[in-house]
Amino acid sequence: MKILVVGSGGREHAITWRLAQDTEKHELFCAPGNAGTTALATNLAIGAEDVSGVVAWAEANKPDLVVVGPEAPLCKGLVDALQKIGVKAFGPVQAGARMEGSKRFAKEIMDAAGVPTGRAKTFTDAEAAKAALPEYGLPVVIKADGLAAGKGVIVAETTEQAEAAIDDMLVDNKFGAAGAEVLVEEFLHGEECSILALVDGENAVLLPSSQDHKRVFDGDKGPNTGGMGAYSPAPVVTDAMLPDIKARIILPVVRELKKRGIVYRGVLYAGLMITPPGGKTALSGSAVNVVEFNARFGDPETEAVLVRLGGNFAQTLLNVANGCLKDSDVVVKPEVAATVIVASGGYPGSYEKGKALSGLDKAAEVPNAIVFHCGTKAQDGATVTAGGRVLSVTGMGATLREAVDTAYKAVDLISFDGAFHRRDIAHRAFER
Ligand code: AMP
Ligand code: GLY
Repeated sequence: MKILVVGSGGREHAITWRLAQDTEKHELFCAPGNAGTTALATNLAIGAEDVSGVVAWAEANKPDLVVVGPEAPLCKGLVDALQKIGVKAFGPVQAGARMEGSKRFAKEIMDAAGVPTGRAKTFTDAEAAKAALPEYGLPVVIKADGLAAGKGVIVAETTEQAEAAIDDMLVDNKFGAAGAEVLVEEFLHGEECSILALVDGENAVLLPSSQDHKRVFDGDKGPNTGGMGAYSPAPVVTDAMLPDIKARIILPVVRELKKRGIVYRGVLYAGLMITPPGGKTALSGSAVNVVEFNARFGDPETEAVLVRLGGNFAQTLLNVANGCLKDSDVVVKPEVAATVIVASGGYPGSYEKGKALSGLDKAAEVPNAIVFHCGTKAQDGATVTAGGRVLSVTGMGATLREAVDTAYKAVDLISFDGAFHRRDIAHRAFER
C-alpha cells in the first residue's frame, strides 16, 4: 500500500515503524516526519496542520490510506477534506474530533450516553462558575473547554486556586478562545490509565491498556507534560474490566455520535480513572470513570502499545477507515513494553533546540530496544533536537522489569546537551 502518515512526533514514528513491520511492504510517506522517520519513509515538506498541502499531495499521489496522527489537523477537518476527494483516511471527521476538541461536547455525549465520568457544569460567566464551587468540594478541577496544549486543566487544592483559574480563563483570556467556556468538574480519586480503542463507526476493538506519566519529574512531581513515558499493559486495568470498558464507555459513545449523524472512525482514546476498592467513590457510583477523550493515538502510549501488535497493521487501519474492522484485526503479542521520553532541559517550559544527539547508533543495537524520534531533525549530516520531547526509547521483554531495563540501557547510551528523563517509568506497576 501507499500510505501517508501525518505528523512529526514519536507517535508518528511508531505508526510508521509498525507499518514497516508488516509482511507486505508498503510505500511510506510522512508529512512532515522527523529525523527518525527518514529511515523508513519519504519525509514531505508539508506541515501536519497544513490541510490544503496534505490534500493537494493526496490528490496528486493517490495514496491508499492517510493516517492522521495529531489532534490539530483532525479538528481542522483534514479527514473530511480527504474523504471529499475520495482518499481513505484513518481518523475521525471534524465533528467526531470534537470529543477531544471540546470538553463540553464530550461531557454532553457522555451524559446522553450514560457513560460514567466526573460530574461537571459549563460556565461562560466567572461569578457563576465561582458560585458553583462549593457543590464540588476540594480538590476541584477547572478545565478550559477547548484545546490548550495540555495546559488547560487545573487541579485546584484550594478555593483561591480554583477562583484564580476561573479568572485566568474567563476574565483575563489567558487561554484565548479555548478558555471562553470553562468546566468546573468533580475531582476523581484513583489511578489513571489509557485505553486506545479502534473504532470503525459502529464496532470497536480495544488495544492493550497502557499508562502514561504526565508529570515531568520522578515520583510524579513537577508540572504536567505531554507525557514522560508509558508502559503496556497497565495492571491497574484487569482483564475483567475490559469488556465493561468497551460496553459501558466506548460503544455507548460511538452509538451516541452515530445517532447525531457522526460516523466516528479512528482511535477513540479514553483516559480513565480507576478508583481502588476502599477509595473515594465518584458521584457516578462507578469505579471506572472517564477523565477525558482524545480523538487519536496517545503519545507516548503509542510507542509502548504498537510494538506489541502483530498482524497486518495497514490492513487493520484501512478496515477502520472502511468501516469493516474485525476483532481478529488486533493481534497482541505476549511481550510487554515500556517507553522512556528523553526531553530537552527546561521542558515543559522553554528549552533550546538544535543540540546534536550522540549515541543513537549504539542505542539502536541494544536487543529489543527501539529508539523513536519525537522532536528531532537532520541538519548538516547530524541529528539535532527540534522539540521538548526529543526521543521515546522503547524496550520490550517477557516481563515489565525486562522491558524497562532494556529501555534504560538504550537511554543511557544517548546524550545531548541538556538531556533529561525520568528514571521511574512503570513505578506504579512495580509498587503493586
Ligand atoms: P485532561 O487534559 O482532561 O486529560 O487532564 C489532564 C490531567 O488532569 C489528567 O490526566 C488528570 O491527571 C488530571 N485530571 C483531569 N480531570 C480530572 C478529574 N476530574 N479528577 C482528577 N484528575 C483530573
Ligand atoms: N499521553 C497523553 C496524550 O496523548 O494525550
